[in-house]
Amino acid sequence: MQESRYTSLMVDLIKDMLRFDPEGQPVVVRGWVRTKRELKNLVFVEVNDGSCFAGIQCAFDKTPFDKTPFDKREETENATDETLSTLRTGASVEIRGYLTPSPSAGQRSEVSGREIRLIGDAENYPLQKKRHSFEFLREIAHLRPRTNTFGAVARVRGALAYAAHDFFQKKSFHYIHTPIITANDAEGAGAMFQVTTLDMEKIAHDGGQGKPPDFHTDFFGKKTFLTVSGQLEAETYATALSRVYTFGPTFRAENSNTARHLAEFWMVEPEMAFADLRDNMALAEDFLKSLLAYALDNCGEDLAFFDAHVEKGIVAALEAVVDARFTHMSYTDAVKELERHADRFEFKPSWGSDLQSEHEKFLTEKVARGPVIVTDYPKEIKAFYMKMNDDGKTVRAMDVLTPRLGEIIGGSQREDNLEKLEKRMVELGMKTEHYWWYLDLRRFGGAPHSGFGMGFDRLVQYVTGMANIRDVIPYPRAAGLAEF
Ligand code: 4AD
Ligand code: MG
Repeated sequence: MQESRYTSLMVDLIKDMLRFDPEGQPVVVRGWVRTKRELKNLVFVEVNDGSCFAGIQCAFDKTPFDKTPFDKREETENATDETLSTLRTGASVEIRGYLTPSPSAGQRSEVSGREIRLIGDAENYPLQKKRHSFEFLREIAHLRPRTNTFGAVARVRGALAYAAHDFFQKKSFHYIHTPIITANDAEGAGAMFQVTTLDMEKIAHDGGQGKPPDFHTDFFGKKTFLTVSGQLEAETYATALSRVYTFGPTFRAENSNTARHLAEFWMVEPEMAFADLRDNMALAEDFLKSLLAYALDNCGEDLAFFDAHVEKGIVAALEAVVDARFTHMSYTDAVKELERHADRFEFKPSWGSDLQSEHEKFLTEKVARGPVIVTDYPKEIKAFYMKMNDDGKTVRAMDVLTPRLGEIIGGSQREDNLEKLEKRMVELGMKTEHYWWYLDLRRFGGAPHSGFGMGFDRLVQYVTGMANIRDVIPYPRAAGLAEF
């Protein structure tokens, strides 16, 4: 960055400028032009640098001003006049001037501009209109962070990631980097992306003679995939460091084109040793509330925008969640409740089948009017590693459901009994020898332990009110979607 000519430069991000009482401080604004308005004697340039939601208005007097402190006054004025007359939305600029009280309503400060320099022009800039549809903006995902909505989403997302680390660090959870490439199917669901350096085209060309490719010759000497969850590895560290969490990208090759599924999404997964399902539920509730409280305290301006333009009433709704106790309900009771209202649903609720999105909405929005933790699901609809209840039919699972979204957290107490776990894996047709290291945790110093995964992108949806998960991650990955 070019060196400033001002020695008394106090602030250089709009965010910081707006914090000060405007008292004529010299400032240099660097950012992107949102709008330009011309009056008879004045030109207003609204500049945004993304450091906060608000931009700053820079007012230029068209009549020559004699107060200017610069040498070469005329030259500067001429260049500034010319730049102002051809200035376009989207261009990057550097503006020098003074921070002054603003006569316009709705803003405390503005910049009394003295000099403007065009840094990068923006001919035929695609973001001309005040409001573009989210669908259109998805096609220019590289430019959408320059809009109000996507700038705000990006700031809130970053703040929530920080808050997640802060929450766990303060509770003595150690951050573990679990692998992205893995040979295991952590959820036993099979929706994985394969990772290989085998030459697909060559294999296809040679015809393979009906034989599967020889994965011993593949990069890792076996079949490998992108992970669907860091849980299994987190368990190995929890049974050494007591409390750990992993937070990273996870991948699912499900072809579900919904507003809450991505093929690449981020998950926060804590895992605790010597903890049962009750402890897990308490941690999940505490975690979610602390994230909401952090956003309410630190992202007020962005949330006010979402409240006004994206999801009316969201701020009050989030505040209410922070203050309320979550409703607890067993799966069996949840199904009973749903069956009483069976006529309202497209998918009829029945014990043994998974809760549909419409059921989750009903439970949170109509029954509990807030988040619900549903526990003790039938073993058939949950993953192999969950601890079996004494009834032999249900497992110690928990899902945290929220209004608007449904499932935001999924977790469980883990099966710590070696025989029971092996038996369950065999029942499900899993090759136990592939999981020898996972089973070792039940052989050597086994301990009850529990954990969960929060879908981070769903959390961002929940906090911002954005309806489509593709709009809360910079570059969404879904079936058929990997343009950028
Ligand atoms: O319920 P899930 O599948 O649980 C697990 O993966 C466990 N191994 C977590 C654990 O116990 N450590 O996924 C956890 C959460 C879901 O509740 C949901 O919020 C999110 O991850 N999620 C997705 N988010 C976006 N796109 C997808 N395709 C998602 N699948 C799950
Ligand atoms: Mg789940």
